[in-house]
This record gives sequence, structure tokens and C-alpha cells, in this order.
Amino acid sequence: MNYYLGIDIGTSGTKVVCFDSKGSVKATATKEYPLYTPFPGYAEQNPQDWLDAVLYGIREITAKGFEIVGVGLSGQMHGLVLLDEKDQVLRNSIIWCDNRATEEAKELECLLGSEQIKRITGNTIVPAFTLSKLRWVQQHEPEVFKRISKILLPKDYIRYMLTGVFATEYSDASGMQLLDLNQKKFSQHICSVVGIRFETLPPLIESSEISGFIKNETASFVGLTSPCFVVGGAGDQAAAAIGNGVLRKGNVSVVLGSSGVVFSPINKTDLEQNQLQVFMHAVPNTYYVMGVTNGCGLSYRWFKETLCEGQEYQALNQEAESSVVGAHGLMYLPYLNGERTPHLDSAATGTFIGIRPNTKHCDFTRAVLEGISFSLKDCFSLLPPANYQVRLSGGGAK
Ligand code: XUL
Repeated sequence: MNYYLGIDIGTSGTKVVCFDSKGSVKATATKEYPLYTPFPGYAEQNPQDWLDAVLYGIREITAKGFEIVGVGLSGQMHGLVLLDEKDQVLRNSIIWCDNRATEEAKELECLLGSEQIKRITGNTIVPAFTLSKLRWVQQHEPEVFKRISKILLPKDYIRYMLTGVFATEYSDASGMQLLDLNQKKFSQHICSVVGIRFETLPPLIESSEISGFIKNETASFVGLTSPCFVVGGAGDQAAAAIGNGVLRKGNVSVVLGSSGVVFSPINKTDLEQNQLQVFMHAVPNTYYVMGVTNGCGLSYRWFKETLCEGQEYQALNQEAESSVVGAHGLMYLPYLNGERTPHLDSAATGTFIGIRPNTKHCDFTRAVLEGISFSLKDCFSLLPPANYQVRLSGGGAK
């Protein structure tokens, strides 16, 4: 019988899931890896750690006797992976939640014009996106920048290592801030103004297209016995939306992970009329808007680990019930990691406001949950008014 793998290159780890041809889950394997923060606001990962985790996960599944014939890749978006002409990784990947490129984002806005960049890429310049990170490397590590031969996103680095095929697909490419959304091509204009060699960017394919087959030596290393194709795949948010059946206008996906995401497909005609971030969906010729609050599950985990020693989420949820709606006036702003939607301020911080002599621990717990919820509401209220069907997923949905 033929089986398929979905592989997600996440921030805390990589998850490999084995499906049968009806889409039922048969086995899973997960491996975690470190996140490096050499300075406040920095977030880096070693692409070799992702690759080791992917190879480990595939081996775990094949060891159980599943014959794998196809792989779909999904991954954390926006991360910058740079290879030299010998395909060596030039530096650690600067990943999606790294905020170091704040000044570079402002400078790019002047250089490219904020209206023009929005018209081309669908978004105003954001430090989280790949273009600002690349500008940072250009300015702070010119020796590295000069040696760039290939620019890749995290899941596309894995594709390249597994298959030898240099490619990306539209949903992830649209998070680089280099894609012309109307033309469905990387923008020659942005590349020439910023000084990026066009040939360092990967060819573009559709999510469902076969990009290549796993190389023989890799296949035997991980225990694959049949030829195994790798399809285009998707950025993690588009992939999660497909998993939730959020394919067309009117559906909304809310993902409660480390960050909180409100995701809604739109028509091409709505591209310029919104205040949310715009990307291409993994469904051909479909777009989506997305609001992201950076400190969703991250806030609850920080609170649990820092101020609730020895307590589990279940106990904290119950404790929150013993406070009241509004947490007796205590408010929490969940901007631990800066904020994207709606404030777009990488310097924003988390805050408790309204502490009084009678404020209890249960009020803090409740305020954290309420702060996260209102921050998601900030994102949701930017969607055009409609009667939406909302699907919830991620750890917080439990
Ligand atoms: C989306 C985003 C995150 C990452 C990490 O814009 O930055 O969801 O993809 O998972």
C-alpha cells in the first residue's frame, strides 16, 4: 500500500506525519531543535538542525514498515536561508520572529516607496519578512551577501537537500516581500533597486506540482524503498488553512499557536482594500489576508513558566474561571515579542495594567487569556464585515 508524508519545519521542531491515501494519520515523528537568540530581538536557527530532524522523522516512519511514495513540505514562513556556490549554508537562518531588521525596513520603505511596495507585494515593508532580513545581511555582513548563490525559505532548503531541486511555491514566496502578486513572478524592480541578483531566487511552482524526487543516496539513508516525489507544498499558514478546509472567501481559520493567526481567503479584486497582510494561498490563483498577533500561546507559556511554578495549563484554565469577566480591571497586553497586527511595532512589549491591593493570582491568569483574546479580536475586526464560518486549530484550541 502507498503512504504519504506531510513534513512541517516548525520553530520548536519538525513534525513528520504519515497518511494513507484516504488522508488518515498512520504514524507521526517529531524532533525538536534549539532557537538561538544571541541578542534581544534576534531569532536564528541552524538549517542543518532542520535537515537532521527531517531525516530522523522519515527514518522513524519507514522503520515501521510504511512504503512512502510522496512528500508534501510545509514550513515556518519568511526565514532567510543563504547558500554559497558550493551549496554550503553561509550563516544561521534569520527566522520569522527575528526583529533585528527594523531600521532596514524603514530604509527600504523610503527606497521603494510604501505605496509602490504595497501595490507590488500586497504588503507594507515588515521587518519579519525575508526582504528586510536580506537587507540587514547586505548592510551588516557584506562579505556574506557577496557570496550568496541561492536564497531559500526553510522548507525549500529541505526540498533542495532532499531532491537537489531549487524551487519554491507561491504561498511561501509571497511572504518574502519580493513577489509581484499580480504577475506571479519575483519583482525585477525590487531586486534591481535593492541590489539582489535575480538568479539567486528560486523558480516558482504551484503547491500541488511535483518538484522532484528524493535523491537515491538520501532515499537509501532514510529507508525509502520506492521512488518518492516531493510536491511544492506551502507556507505553514496556508497549509494549516487547507487542513482546516479554509479554501475560499467566507471561511476563516484562527490558529492558536505560539503566535495567533486570523486567516481568510479573498478574491484578487480585494487585494488592495484591506489593512491586513496579503499572501497567495496554496489553492491556485487564490489569495488570503492574515492578521498575526505575535504573543498568543507564547504569552500563556511565558506566564506559566515565569509566574506559576509547577502549575499546568489545565489548572491555570480552572483558576481563570474563579476570577470574573474583565479580571477585576486587570489588563494584559500580549506584545512580548513586539506586535504585527494591527500595531506593526517590533519594539512593543508585554504589560499588565490595573494592579490593585486586592488583585489575585487568578486575575493575572484571566487577564492573560483575555489579553490574547482581545488581540485576536483586533486582527479579526480588520476583516471586511461578513458572516464568517470560523475554524479553530493549534494547541490553544484544546
Ligand atoms: C506567518 C508567520 C508565522 C510563521 C511561523 O506570517 O510569521 O506563522 O510562519 O510559523
